[in-house]
Amino acid sequence: MKEELDNILNEARKIIEEINSENSLENFRIRFLGRKGLLKEILDKIVKLEEKERRELGEYFNYVKNEIEKLYEVAKERIITSKKEIKFDIHHPGEKIRKGHIHILNQAIKEIKEIFMKLGFDIERGRELVTEYENFDSLNIPPNHPSRDLWDTLWLKFEDKNNKYLLRTHTSAHQVEVLKNKPLPIRVVIPGKVFRHEATDQRHEIQFHQLEGLAVGEHADLRELKGVLKIFFKEFFGTELEVIFRTSYFPFTEPSVEIDLECVLCKGKGCNVCKNSGYLEIAGAGMIHPFVLKEAGIDTNKYFGYAFGLGIERIIMLRHNINDVRLFNSGDLRFIKQF
Ligand code: DAH
Repeated sequence: MKEELDNILNEARKIIEEINSENSLENFRIRFLGRKGLLKEILDKIVKLEEKERRELGEYFNYVKNEIEKLYEVAKERIITSKKEIKFDIHHPGEKIRKGHIHILNQAIKEIKEIFMKLGFDIERGRELVTEYENFDSLNIPPNHPSRDLWDTLWLKFEDKNNKYLLRTHTSAHQVEVLKNKPLPIRVVIPGKVFRHEATDQRHEIQFHQLEGLAVGEHADLRELKGVLKIFFKEFFGTELEVIFRTSYFPFTEPSVEIDLECVLCKGKGCNVCKNSGYLEIAGAGMIHPFVLKEAGIDTNKYFGYAFGLGIERIIMLRHNINDVRLFNSGDLRFIKQF
């Protein structure tokens, strides 16, 4: 009977090697350790033996049973951990991660700031929510003055004792604050989003971006402005373009000019973008009105300066031949991915 026990142990050792699933392990348990298993069969025989033999074989039986139980436990552990292991094939090509990128508008704003920084300008930022004073009164645009109609305004319902609030209609709203707080001489540009309450079409959006420029010092005149803009446009468009001034009107400049840029697309020859004129209106500008300088506490006998405001979408549209300003905010990936 000892031999029988040896055979069972050997068989168990052999079989256990091949076991790799919970199912086959369970079959193993039933076959060897189960209530009707091989060991139970032998045990039934052993209990019927004479006292002496029974004791001897009983001991050996316990040894064999123990061994088989150990085999069972080890295999069980092995199967459980192999189930936990994450199987992956390091050679399998990974899933492509979809990365976004900086929007063309912000790319261009960064580029514009860098060009002006090289030209000696600081960068300032204002708030999108401003007071009536900042957007209008401080710029020589009093209440009920017809020139207010130049800016279709989005007013906030909320107002307090001293102020009415609005979404800035132009970055000029920061002129006085910046002029007040910066030491002279001043060379600064202020990029930012502005808001207009108007119908949208290919050339108009209710929100767009402007770049305000301000320079105050002893030599900040329109000659300098022309030079600065010529260099700026050359850097931005990658080609030298003519800049011309046309007289105009803004309440916060005197004299005021409209700046025209030689058409980027036809180089002044005339095309449908520039309506055959060879030039494009690109910015408003002028010498800062003494009213504004005084608001900022600047001595108008000693100092003067120029200001300009240009539409950022406008120049991006020209550089990349984009024909609809609404594309910038459309979220259309076919548009965004091009840049
Ligand atoms: N703020 C004006 C606008 O939004 C543009 C402008 C004109 C800005 C003349 C200036 C300026 O600084 O001098 O229409």
